[in-house]
Amino acid sequence: MAILDDLQLSRREVMATGAAAGVVSAPGLADAAPEHAAPSIMTVSFTVNGQRQTLELDTRTTLLDALREHLKLTGSKKGCDHGQCGACTVIVDGRRINSCLSLAVMHEGDEVTTIEGLGTPEKLHPLQAAFVKHDGYQCGYCTPGQICSAKAVLDEIKAGVPSHVTADLNARIQFSEDELRERMSGNICRCGAYSNIVEAVAEVAGKSA
Ligand code: FES
Ligand code: FES
Repeated sequence: MAILDDLQLSRREVMATGAAAGVVSAPGLADAAPEHAAPSIMTVSFTVNGQRQTLELDTRTTLLDALREHLKLTGSKKGCDHGQCGACTVIVDGRRINSCLSLAVMHEGDEVTTIEGLGTPEKLHPLQAAFVKHDGYQCGYCTPGQICSAKAVLDEIKAGVPSHVTADLNARIQFSEDELRERMSGNICRCGAYSNIVEAVAEVAGKSA
């Protein structure tokens, strides 16, 4: 019993012993902690809304952050920052992309169009005018992305790019509400202005929704 008593350690001693053992059994643990590497900086040049821009950027900067934080083009919105809402949609070399999912330094030499490049308050793009006319928004947060996306959708249909709901791949693709809703399903509107958005885009497409 005396031996057992000798072996019994207080809780505090056990904790202290364990901690010491942990330190001993993990040599160099502190050394292994990742050091914060200096950011890697690169120069990138691209054209935004017709203007050549050259930026020195941390290579981790998304195109969305380059536009919003560095060029102060805040029309493109950050809704989710991981490709789920479409609020950040811009057009790059004629194709719409989620700018939050793309690194700015990947766009050397590209032509980027944001909502600011589509129209101005004095001279709205036909889609912008149609959104106003048809009340295609409520809070407006998703609207720049919706309009950039709609512009690219109309170009895609004109160019014969099929969608998941295109029935006949050999026939000329026609604008339809189904085509539009499918193609714009990546642009979420929390206010639920979808039916008015469809009416606005349909009017510009020369069709009725
Ligand atoms: S902010 Fe890019 S998809 Fe939501
Ligand atoms: S208008 Fe509010 S999220 Fe679309």
